[in-house]
Amino acid sequence: MTENQRKIRLLVVDDIVETRNNLINLLYFERDIEVVDSATRGQEGIDKAKKLNPDIVLMDINMPDMNGIQATEIIIKQVPGVSVIMMSVQGEQDYLRQAMRAGAREFLVKPFSGDELVSSIRHVYQDEQSKRRFAVPVQYQPGLPSAPNGSEATQGEIISIFSPKGGIGRTTIITNLAVAVKQYSKKRVALVDGSLFFGDVGIMMDIRNTKTMSDLQGRIENLDTQLLQDVMLTHSSELKVLLAPSKPDQGELVTADDLKKILKELKNNYDYIFVDTFSSLKEETQLSILDMSDLILTVMSLEMTAIKDIRLFLEVTEILEYPKDKIVLVLNRADSKHGLRAENIETTIGHQIAATISSGGPAVTLSINRGTPLVIDAPDNPFSKDIQTLAHKIVDGEIGNKVAVNGSRKNGKVKGKKSGGLFGLFARRK
Ligand SMILES: Nc1ncnc2c1ncn2[C@@H]1O[C@H](COP(=O)(O)OP(=O)(O)OP(=O)(O)O)[C@@H](O)[C@H]1O
Ligand SMILES: [Mg+2]
Repeated sequence: MTENQRKIRLLVVDDIVETRNNLINLLYFERDIEVVDSATRGQEGIDKAKKLNPDIVLMDINMPDMNGIQATEIIIKQVPGVSVIMMSVQGEQDYLRQAMRAGAREFLVKPFSGDELVSSIRHVYQDEQSKRRFAVPVQYQPGLPSAPNGSEATQGEIISIFSPKGGIGRTTIITNLAVAVKQYSKKRVALVDGSLFFGDVGIMMDIRNTKTMSDLQGRIENLDTQLLQDVMLTHSSELKVLLAPSKPDQGELVTADDLKKILKELKNNYDYIFVDTFSSLKEETQLSILDMSDLILTVMSLEMTAIKDIRLFLEVTEILEYPKDKIVLVLNRADSKHGLRAENIETTIGHQIAATISSGGPAVTLSINRGTPLVIDAPDNPFSKDIQTLAHKIVDGEIGNKVAVNGSRKNGKVKGKKSGGLFGLFARRK
């Protein structure tokens, strides 16, 4: 190595002090590798990776608070050009798969030798360098969303909003939230109206339904980026919107498979895909949205009926084997005083409330009637402020990990689920 060749900058994240020191010692005499810092927790690792911009993060999987897979997902999204090498004592396929899905480049099973470690670091670094050398800037066609730096190859995050109860504020929240995420992140953001029969997104955003999901009818098999862009409408906030069919009988023609293909294609083209839904678990289309979601914002209010329904819905998500951190509880009109306290509700339902949204009063209805989301119309309204806070948490990767059991944000898989809907599952459980 010549003097002016730069060293490979490495950040070590491991909660066990002995392991950290061993790793640092193993690498001490390698002239081309420099350990720039170490961290003991996932969040600390994320903060240091953002600050120091290392070439490689050497990440342990099993750590308290936030595991290495979750930390990796966030680092890959937020730190351009970084590569992650994952370490674990477990070599099981499941860990390996999760690590790779989170974006890790290599997987080292402990205990490993110094040689294995060094050659893995060099290999990942050289691989990344040659990719950069040969990378051709992606030319985006007119009308297509432009990809921000480093996000060309990433898969977007699907964030749906659901509630077992209707009229609880789903469409109001998701339209405002999508706009707030667009404003805050400047990333590629799409909004899909998955409320197939009586979709309200077009009205709430004052977008005429000149094109809707129905325009994809019969063309789903040929769905590609261009076709998708042709049917998406642009809101004044630069958000791209895919509207629900304009009539209920057209809505009936959209199948669960169609929706899956649409969402899959959107994932390749956008960083965030927000999806509105309606309150039916009997509908395969709605279940397919929930299955495909990385996060399900689950809206509730401080009413006994809403709380009872949420408790039942949480049971259903267990049957569906969704990871616990996929369900993000959002308490709407949290400031309304009905004699119930949010803390008590958390205990009753056994799930943390991740975000609260204040009542925006008549301004919300006014904004709906005008067709301008309140975050644009009145950004200082308490409702808008809370929506902005939620948007920041999503973009900064703070949501969805707090109540993690063990695993990354991942899509739940429905064990043995057949096309007959959810109710077969109840029967099987008995
Ligand atoms: N935080 C809030 N502050 C004030 N008004 C609100 C708030 N959340 C919802 N609303 C009002 O509640 C009504 C229902 O909201 P919305 O249409 O978003 O619910 P929904 O769950 O999408 O209903 P649907 O079942 O019809 O799809 C709207 O009139 C909206 O103005
Ligand atoms: Mg709605």
